[in-house]
This record gives sequence, structure tokens and C-alpha cells, in this order.
Amino acid sequence: MSENKIESVLREDRVFEPPRSFVEQATFKPDDIQALYDAANSDHEGFWADQAQKHIDWHKPFTQTLDSTDAPFFKWFTDGQLNVSYNCLDRHLDTRGDQTAIIFEADDGEVEHISYRELHARVCRFANALKANGLGKGDRAVIYLPNVPQATIAMLACARIGAIHSVVFGGFSAPSLRDRIDDAEAKMLITADGNYRGGKLIPLKDVADKALSQGCESIDKVIVLKRSGTDVSMQSGRDLWWHDAIDGQAETCEPEWVDAEHPLFILYTSGSTGKPKGIQHSSGGYLLGAIVTCRWVFDLRDDDVFWCTADVGWITGHTYITYGPTACGATQVMFEGVPTYPEPDRFWKMVDTHQVTIFYTAPTAIRALMKHGDEYPQRHALDSLRILGTVGEPINPEAWMWYRQVIGHERCPIVDTWWQTETGGHMITPLPSYSKTKPGSVTHPLPGISAEILDESGKPVTEAGSGGVLVVTKPWPYMLRTIWNDPERYKETYFGMYDAHTYVAGDSAQRDEQGNFRILGRIDDVVNISGHRLGTMEVESALVAHTSVAEAAVVSRPHDVKGEAIVAFVILKTGDGNDELASDLRNWVAEQLGAIAKPEEIRFADGLPKTRSGKIMRRLLRTVARGDEVTQDVSTLENPQILEQLQARGS
Ligand code: WTA
Repeated sequence: MSENKIESVLREDRVFEPPRSFVEQATFKPDDIQALYDAANSDHEGFWADQAQKHIDWHKPFTQTLDSTDAPFFKWFTDGQLNVSYNCLDRHLDTRGDQTAIIFEADDGEVEHISYRELHARVCRFANALKANGLGKGDRAVIYLPNVPQATIAMLACARIGAIHSVVFGGFSAPSLRDRIDDAEAKMLITADGNYRGGKLIPLKDVADKALSQGCESIDKVIVLKRSGTDVSMQSGRDLWWHDAIDGQAETCEPEWVDAEHPLFILYTSGSTGKPKGIQHSSGGYLLGAIVTCRWVFDLRDDDVFWCTADVGWITGHTYITYGPTACGATQVMFEGVPTYPEPDRFWKMVDTHQVTIFYTAPTAIRALMKHGDEYPQRHALDSLRILGTVGEPINPEAWMWYRQVIGHERCPIVDTWWQTETGGHMITPLPSYSKTKPGSVTHPLPGISAEILDESGKPVTEAGSGGVLVVTKPWPYMLRTIWNDPERYKETYFGMYDAHTYVAGDSAQRDEQGNFRILGRIDDVVNISGHRLGTMEVESALVAHTSVAEAAVVSRPHDVKGEAIVAFVILKTGDGNDELASDLRNWVAEQLGAIAKPEEIRFADGLPKTRSGKIMRRLLRTVARGDEVTQDVSTLENPQILEQLQARGS
């Protein structure tokens, strides 16, 4: 036992230099990266102004870099004007119009190559269709589509006309979709009849219809992509097919030039209250972040084939499918399916087929595929790969080592990228030719990003190995601008702990002797299931909305594949719980919030452990859910006998 412990500590101390073979062919050499750090450290604003001039085609150049007068409502490049879709499409037409922008592989294995010229034409046609159906600058469109090129086309078409998109992941339920449509007061919904994932039909239009029947008064039009070919109902006057909407539309569309601060999109994410937060991003600053992080972290260049396996419904898909790679003029793979269908070698097979050079996925996928054994990756050469990336949650050292050895053949640097929906792009991450990597460590902040770890009083935590609150002490161009319709919540959530210039990420972290960052986990009531953020309050609200539930408390416990799994403690209105009710409740939560939120376990109890002031002792519940020995002080418990009951029922 103790030997194992020592071994795992030693393992985490393994340090890997950037492979020499990698450095030799990298675009950004260590000296180039060092020069970026030096420039950023000597003049934060000037550095970002230079980057913005270098990487973005401005319609009207900016003269002011950063406006902090109304902190924490920071503005970047405010008097500049641009169009994001112009930067992702039009500017490539002369130089790489015929280059493939997207290699799309469908769930059933069908492959489609879309060139930049074709992508431009398809975006323009759809943008014209949006306008023809009443969507204009500043209007919101909710996109509820599968991970197919039309999702990217719809996003870029919104950007083209200055409309604000809000993509809702296709796995979200009808009530979640409705809440997001209502909060954004969206005029239009863009969805599909359905699609297949892992061979299973996802009935998107049915779910959308359910959402629309429960509210969504702001919706005028629903555009429906024919994808699965299943029968769906179309409400006349409101619903129209995508192919009819673009019929006869021109293949050019003058971009709407917008101010740098014009909102590009809203993306909802979970917080520690029941209500999801509409994270609002800008046009200029966000685009800059997408570009520079693709360039620096992925060393992205013309001959790369980039593949981010995320869904466009998450921030990772926004920044590293729709915006970053296209703005850099890269060729990328987009995939509709799941890693294990039809067999657990789907990813590795696709890497070989499409000669992927940069592969970016989530620890949960790595862990799941690792469990299937080395045999699957070993069927494939994987010799096109040059960089591997991970995102979404802490990666355990075992999975990191497996990724390095079995997938990267010890030749590919691993970039473990820490960032958030709110940060818009990478923040703390190794740079592939520059950084020494270490399993489980996100290493160091990017140039122009001032990350620190503070204690509760706001003093920097200097001792190696001590944990603290992860903060960013200077604004950066690609940070969120506010929470849609709720600026107070923005201030309070992200800048409420210290001051109006100190962004609080909601994670705790520590540093090692060399100063490398390690992310420890959330400090709020947010859990991370398979790399997806969920507020425990959301799950609790869903549970208490069930007729038989009086009270519920939700915590997480570690899980081999998902990272964390949900355990719900449930108090019934009457009677005792049984397996059937537990299964009903699990399904109920999945219906209310989506399958990701389905609890792993439901435990029925007569009461919850509470302090005398009535606060649920979640820390205690966490200990119980993990089956650990309770060492906390329980003397403040109002109802100590409850503890024994909870423990007994779990065994
Ligand atoms: C966690 C995903 C450890 C973290 C881009 C963060 C990570 C939350 C990492 C954001 C990483 C993300 N190592 N933890 N490399 N990347 N996280 O908004 O807790 O879906 O706050 O954005 O995921 O999740 P979100």
C-alpha cells in the first residue's frame, strides 16, 4: 500500500523535455516563445495590441487597446471594427480557396471534404437565408444541432450578419433548451430532424418541439436541417427546412462590420446556483484568443490536419472547431460520432485515415479508450501525429502516460490545457517546443496571461505544494464580457472575492517547486462529469421537481472514466425508497437536464445532515458518498443519528 503511494508520487515527478525531433520542425521555436513572454511581461497592453494587429484583418483599425474605466467590465480594441466570419473565410479565398477547411466524418463513416471556397459560399447562402427570415444584427439565434458542418456554418452565418448565436449541446433536454431560449430571448431556433450518434437516433426536433410547447414565446422561426430523414412535425408559418431556406439564396453576402465589443455569442454554462449562466463573448478579443492559442499551443500551420474531438455545443468546439482553426486557415477534422462506435478504435482509425497531425480530446475519452486495451490503438500506425492535447478536467498521471506512450509513441508533446467557457481560450498550458511537461500538470500561463494562486486573504500562496484560489490578475482580450442579462451576477461570481481586477476562476490550484500549476478542482458547487460542468443545484432542483421528492442533496465521488460521478441523497415525501423509484428518479433527472446529469447513485434517507443553522453539510455527504471514514467534526450536526443511517444505506 505505502509502496504504491510512493510510486505514484514519483511518477508525478517525471519530467519530459520537448522531444528534439519535435522542436526541429516546430514553427514556434523556444526562442520565439521566450520573445513573446518577454514582450508580454514588459508591456501587457502593448503586447496584446501588437497581436491584434498581426492576426486580425480589421475593417477599421482600433486606436484604444484596453478600456478599464468600468472594471470589471473590460473593453478591448473598442473603436476597431471587424467581422469574425470575414476573418475565418474571406481572407483565405485568394490564398487557400481550394484547400480543405473541414474533413467531415459522419457517424456512419461517410466522409465529406469542404474547401474554404465552398465553406464561404455555404455560410453566405445561409446568412442570406437568416436575413430573409427576419434575423438581424444583435438578434439571438439558438443553435441546437448535431456536430456536423452545418453547425459551424450556422455559427459563422450568424457572425456574418452580426446576430448573436447561442449553441445548446444536442444532448440537452427540452426543459434545458427552453430555459436557454427564454433567457436569451432568441428569435430563431436552428435545429435538425435528428441524427445518429453511435448508431442511436437523437430526435432533436421532437425535443425542440417539446421545448417550444413549454414557453419560448420569443421564437418566430425554426429552421430544420434534414439529417436523419426521420418523420417530424413542421408547424406551418414557423418551421421551415434548411434546404428550402437556402434555396435561391446568393453565394455571397456582404459581412456586417461590427464593433470589436459586439457580442459574438452567448454560451450557457453551469454555476453554483440552479440557473445556468449565459456567458457572453466579444467579437475582436475572442477571435484574437482563438487565433493566438491555436498558433502558440497547437503550433498550427498550413500542412497540419487538426482534430478537436469536442462537440460544437461546448466552448471547446466553439474556439477549437468553428473559430480558431478556420481563422488560422487550417484543415480540420470534424466528427459526428462517438469514440467507441462501431469499435473502440474509431479515433485511432480516423487519425490514420485523415493523417491527423494534432489531436485534442478530453481525459474522460482517454480513460475510456485506455480501458479497452492497447490492442485498439496498436491496429493503427498513428505516425502522422505530432501534438496531443487534453482539456476539460484534471488528467490522472496514468492516463497521461498512456496517452504519451500508446498514442503519441513518446514522440508527441502533450499539451494539457486549462481554461474555461468564461476564459474563451487556453490560459495555462504547456507550449509544445518550449515547456517541460509533467503528467497531471498544466505547467504555466500563456504569454499575456497573469495567473496566480491566492489564499483567502488575497496573499499569493508561495509555498510549493500548498493549494489556493486560482485567479487571473490582469484582463485579457478573450475573457468573457458579462453574464447575459445579469451584470451583477458577473461581478459577484467572477470579481466578488478580491477586487474588480482579479478574476476568480472557481478552481483551486497549487504549484510545484518549479512553479508549475496543478489544478485541484472546483471551489464551488460545480461538479465535472466527463469534462462537462454541472451545478449540483441544478440536479437538486430537478430532483425536487419530482412529485415524490421532498428534499435532495447532490455531491460527487471520483469515477474511473467520468472523472466524477453524481451521488444524490434523496428525502421522500412519504414512504421508503426502492430500486424502482431510484431508477425512475435517475431517468427523471436525465429527462430534465440531459443524460450527462443522470445520477450514478440515489440514496434514500429520512433526513440530510444539517448544521444547527440549517445548512446541508455537503462536505460530510461527500465523505459518505465516497465511502471514506468520517473525520470531520460532526458536533455541530443537528441530527447526528442521520449520519449512521446514510452510511448504512450506502453499503
Ligand atoms: C476544468 C472547458 C484540469 C476546470 C474548456 C475548469 C480543467 C472547468 C482543465 C471549465 C484542465 C478544464 N485540467 N481541469 N486541463 N480544463 N478544467 O467551462 O475545473 O466546460 O474550471 O470549459 O473544467 O469547464 P468548461
